[in-house]
Amino acid sequence: MRSYSVAVIPGDGIGIEVVAAALPVLHAAGERHGFQLDTTHFPWGGAYYARHGEMMAADGLQTLRGFQAILLGAIGDARLVPDHVSLHTMLLEIRRRFQQYINLRPHRVLAGVRSPLREADFDILCIRENSEGEYVGAGGRAHVGTPNEVAVETAIFTRQGVERVLRFAFEQARQRSRRLAIATKSNAQKHSMVFWDEVAAAVAADYPDVAATTYHVDALCARLITHPASVDVVVASNLFGDILTDVGAAIQGGLGFAASANLDPTRTYPSMFESVHGSAPDIAGRNIANPCATIWAGAMMLEFLGERAAAASVMRALETVTGAAQVRTPDMGGQHTTEEMGLAIVAALGDV
Ligand code: NAI
Ligand code: MG
Repeated sequence: MRSYSVAVIPGDGIGIEVVAAALPVLHAAGERHGFQLDTTHFPWGGAYYARHGEMMAADGLQTLRGFQAILLGAIGDARLVPDHVSLHTMLLEIRRRFQQYINLRPHRVLAGVRSPLREADFDILCIRENSEGEYVGAGGRAHVGTPNEVAVETAIFTRQGVERVLRFAFEQARQRSRRLAIATKSNAQKHSMVFWDEVAAAVAADYPDVAATTYHVDALCARLITHPASVDVVVASNLFGDILTDVGAAIQGGLGFAASANLDPTRTYPSMFESVHGSAPDIAGRNIANPCATIWAGAMMLEFLGERAAAASVMRALETVTGAAQVRTPDMGGQHTTEEMGLAIVAALGDV
């Protein structure tokens, strides 16, 4: 039987609950499609930090390196560790060190889910640069706490980094509608974004069959709301992609549905699959979080591992349950638990 080693990091807050609901769905898909997910849990995150003074074990990256994929719930507990520490010493560290330079985020409205938009007939795939740019962490502060204090945060764009994410996006566009929206801000950012536009034009020359349009990121945010169906594949820098995908999450019905894959397309390192949302301390521990985003991320993991049929089954089961609207978590207007939602999707897997 085919078997895949998966490192599971439930993390903090609702991360633990949504992962617990998603895993049975993924295991059931494996049973139906003839493979096994060999999962190992790691208790890393804010609670781990409170006990050990670090977000994950010192050799954590080396340990993760041996797995084929990583499934992550959510990281962050601001009562125990400042958010910039948890983000930079764990999530961003994994993304950077494992060359997960692609962050893939699909935005479409599942059957039965309500979008805040009047017309929500869109299917958008957002590709966010995930390893450099504005989130590279270069900078510093001087004269801290004095009236002369200075803070510098430098965005770093490399030709290799920009070219590879653009190339990946053109490839995705080629496999879909052959339309690509490129986010920029080269009117205001005259160094990095002019460079980004130049690299985009050079890469575009290799894809004459793809219709690429460059949009300023603010206008593209507005377009996602006013004309979402006009957008198919989107490519953006780290910061711009972060913002665009929050708009994407909102128009697809909320954070409960926004899934995300951090990919190393070279497959040198394991890729990491997670929901877009955080640990949601406001609802944590109540078993009411929506597990759909994590289940969708799990389907993206199965697809990346090569189990395309299983990934499609998971998505059909997910949509069968959202479409029937019999089992719904509170964010969907229902009263069911995280666990009940997961079990309903496991049951639906038997029928699709
Ligand atoms: P959040 O995404 O955790 O929550 C924002 C709002 O959306 C909350 O009202 C929450 O209840 C709701 N929400 C989120 N996911 C939901 C779900 N699955 N079902 C139902 N409702 C859901 O963002 P917030 O509050 O800004 O951050 C909380 C913590 O999470 C912080 O420590 C932050 O640093 C961390 N965080 C971690 C991320 C990650 O692990 N990738 C991403 C974003 C935030
Ligand atoms: Mg974000």
